[in-house]
Amino acid sequence: MSPNRRDTLKLMMAGPCMAGVSSPLFAQSIDPVYAAYEAASAHDPWTLITRDAPAEGFDSAARRLHGSLPDGLRGTLFRNGPGRFSRQEWRYRHWFDGDGFIQSWTIGDEGVRHRGRFVQTDKWRNEEAAGRFLVPALGSVPPNPGGLTGPDDMNVANTSVMMLGDELLALWEGGSAWSLDPDTLASNGARRWGQGLDGVPFSAHPKREPGIGIVWNFGQDAMNDRIILWKISPEGELLQAGLVPGIPGGMIHDFVITERSLVFLVGSFRFDQMRLPFIDSFSFRPDVPMIAIAIDKNDWTQKRVWEMEPGFLFHFGGAWEDADGTIRLDAALSQDARFADGGAYAVMRGEPVAESDSQTRHSLVTLRNGRAPDVQVFSTDFAEFPQVDMRFTGRQRNRTWTIAWRPEQIRSATRIESRDLHTGQLDSFDHGDGIYVEEPLFIPAPDSRNEGEGWIIHTALNTHERRTELHAFNALKLSDGPVVSWQLDHAAPFGFHGCWRQA
Ligand SMILES: [Fe+2]
Repeated sequence: MSPNRRDTLKLMMAGPCMAGVSSPLFAQSIDPVYAAYEAASAHDPWTLITRDAPAEGFDSAARRLHGSLPDGLRGTLFRNGPGRFSRQEWRYRHWFDGDGFIQSWTIGDEGVRHRGRFVQTDKWRNEEAAGRFLVPALGSVPPNPGGLTGPDDMNVANTSVMMLGDELLALWEGGSAWSLDPDTLASNGARRWGQGLDGVPFSAHPKREPGIGIVWNFGQDAMNDRIILWKISPEGELLQAGLVPGIPGGMIHDFVITERSLVFLVGSFRFDQMRLPFIDSFSFRPDVPMIAIAIDKNDWTQKRVWEMEPGFLFHFGGAWEDADGTIRLDAALSQDARFADGGAYAVMRGEPVAESDSQTRHSLVTLRNGRAPDVQVFSTDFAEFPQVDMRFTGRQRNRTWTIAWRPEQIRSATRIESRDLHTGQLDSFDHGDGIYVEEPLFIPAPDSRNEGEGWIIHTALNTHERRTELHAFNALKLSDGPVVSWQLDHAAPFGFHGCWRQA
């Protein structure tokens, strides 16, 4: 990429955020969202999923509830999610706005240690010093906001987390990754890639090639119908970056890789025109098809494109590609973007999300050259946060783990599931009403080779006891129940995504 192109890219991505904004009407009155949440939280402990974490974070031992620690399950689960939602009795409107809060669960022979620390973004530091929110967020405009000079001014680093070499990166999708010390969770500033690309969007769902460890990622410039692709060495060195034009400006959150391709589904939640808050720039277009795009890993100008039924998604499981170029991928597909533009607001008011939740169903999509895509929906129940055995990322595999819930469950999921993509065979465990589960993560057993040999680990909110728990399962025998579980003496806010560092 030429320097001029890089400068242009940075400007285009920063541009919309530079506009000044006017003061909201409610600046001088009681904030209705803050009041609604406080009223709901007085009687509904589920609202703890979006309760502000203390500014100093958490540091405590977890109590073992039952079971024994399996051999080999030693390491740290890192999770990231929004942890600060209100200041001066004014509350963010959208769940995705909260400041990034990293939680770590370190599992060792001596027990389990839980820590929580806010990512020390520029935004967090400035707002902590000021005692109020200072800048517009993705889905909210706080009272009396200042202007922005670029995306990292509003970077909350709250979406996911990954190990890259010895670094822990807190990931967002509108700007830089944030570099952290994995041992202390101390922040070391925005991740700098060099080559004029500092501050350019680096999305929250990078993919790592099994074996060779190459990391692929993208960043989106929805206003200009293009993305940037990132190719990074296992040690964290930038190998290649470049713009790919002609990618429609739908909100793209995740992607998948195969051995030959980088595959994107662009949903029907499309960029319309620049508005603040920024998420209002997008609208769901039921007349606009979802687009599948496969980009050749070795030649980013080579694209294959398919049209699908209108729809939306946040997350994929994985993908693989046959010798004839047929791509198979699984994802949590929904018929609209109701969570992004509905449920994520309801959560902030402390309301159950049933009426406004996206109906995400675990689905298998087959993309054949010159043919219409085939979509197989596995269940009428809902599923999210699909996870795979990462030793098979981009390769043919059988199994995906998800959280799952029935349509009548009005808060959030209580069940963990595993499905065989070929036979449809299901293995599941339901914690029961009041235990709300978060994203599962697959942890391979050391010295194992076969898909699924390892553990599924997940955090959950126990609303009966108002405490956060950690559960570990044999990944191939979920229905046996947790092999070991731990519990904190307090509740911590829900996270979105996590990663694992083996001891
Ligand atoms: Fe995500």
